[in-house]
Amino acid sequence: MLRSLLIYLSRAKWAQKIVMGWGLARRVVRRFVAGETEDEAVAAIRTLNARGFTATVDVLGESVTDATMAREAARAYLHLIERIEQERLQAWVSVKLTALGLDIDAELCRQHMRDILACARERDIRVTVDMEDRHYTQATLDMVSALRYEDGFENVRAVIQAYLYRTDEDIRMLAAEGFGVRLCKGAYKEPPDVAYPKKSDVDASMVRNMKVLLDAAKEGRGYPGIATHDARIIEIAKAYAAEHAIPRDRFEFQMLHGVRTGLQEQLVAEGYGMRVYVPFGTQWYPYFMRRLAERPANVWFFVSSLFKR
Ligand code: FDA
Repeated sequence: MLRSLLIYLSRAKWAQKIVMGWGLARRVVRRFVAGETEDEAVAAIRTLNARGFTATVDVLGESVTDATMAREAARAYLHLIERIEQERLQAWVSVKLTALGLDIDAELCRQHMRDILACARERDIRVTVDMEDRHYTQATLDMVSALRYEDGFENVRAVIQAYLYRTDEDIRMLAAEGFGVRLCKGAYKEPPDVAYPKKSDVDASMVRNMKVLLDAAKEGRGYPGIATHDARIIEIAKAYAAEHAIPRDRFEFQMLHGVRTGLQEQLVAEGYGMRVYVPFGTQWYPYFMRRLAERPANVWFFVSSLFKR
């Protein structure tokens, strides 16, 4: 119930106005978001890199319906990528197609993606296309596939959500092709005709598909990012990799900025690759609300922080 309400609120303009206008909320948001400026994101990545983490940076923004805003988002990425190189940061980038104009015109969005990928490729930086809700699943996979096979960008990576029924088939295909994939559980509220309603089924899909990606990685196909804070699933991944002699440099774990930082540190100490998703920008509202939806305790953290000085 609470999760559905928070996902609904993440899209409600009236709620966005209230929360974003609330000065105190900004302080709480900082747990999940590196800051509002590129400088703040760079500082956060520098700290992470110094502690053995790599990063993937997201310029916050989504559901853009104005071509000028989509162009600005693309420019922000180009600037960020140049900055990553200048500052010698160990970082990739993550993008959302709806921030780059997918809802306006797919060709416009593809051109922005080509510009970003070309700029990133020159600097040996990979670009992961985040997966949004079910209305964008096929369009996103079509876009990443066109960018790779028609436009020739090998630095593009896809995200697959374990909660979708279609995932086994998508993963089988992407693993066979050696596509770079981030596998996560899925952050949106999807109906039972497209996604598993039960958490146990989502977890089982995550484990099943993670093994397919790890098997492919062992053969040198793809470099999976196992994106979860679920300690049980991480243990299964570690045990599977050890049992099947899959070297640690063939895959990595990924987690969100500010979530289970102790577990992040533990994985680095154990010698696993650990990439932290670092979002920044002024458009933090929907991202923040999805983080609250993932864990009801975060709502109480949020509410209680507002009353603390
Ligand atoms: P689960 O929700 O079962 O959580 C396991 C445990 O982790 C919880 O018990 C809690 O302790 C902790 N935890 C999880 N989320 C937390 C939070 N927000 N705050 C505090 N503790 C939390 N989704 C998507 O649809 N498209 C995408 O492109 C991406 N991209 C992405 C990148 C990266 C690097 C990560 C880690 C995740 C995503 N996600 C995503 C989000 C993902 O789909 C999922 O919603 C969250 O990761 C939460 O699921 P877990 O796998 O962590 O498991």
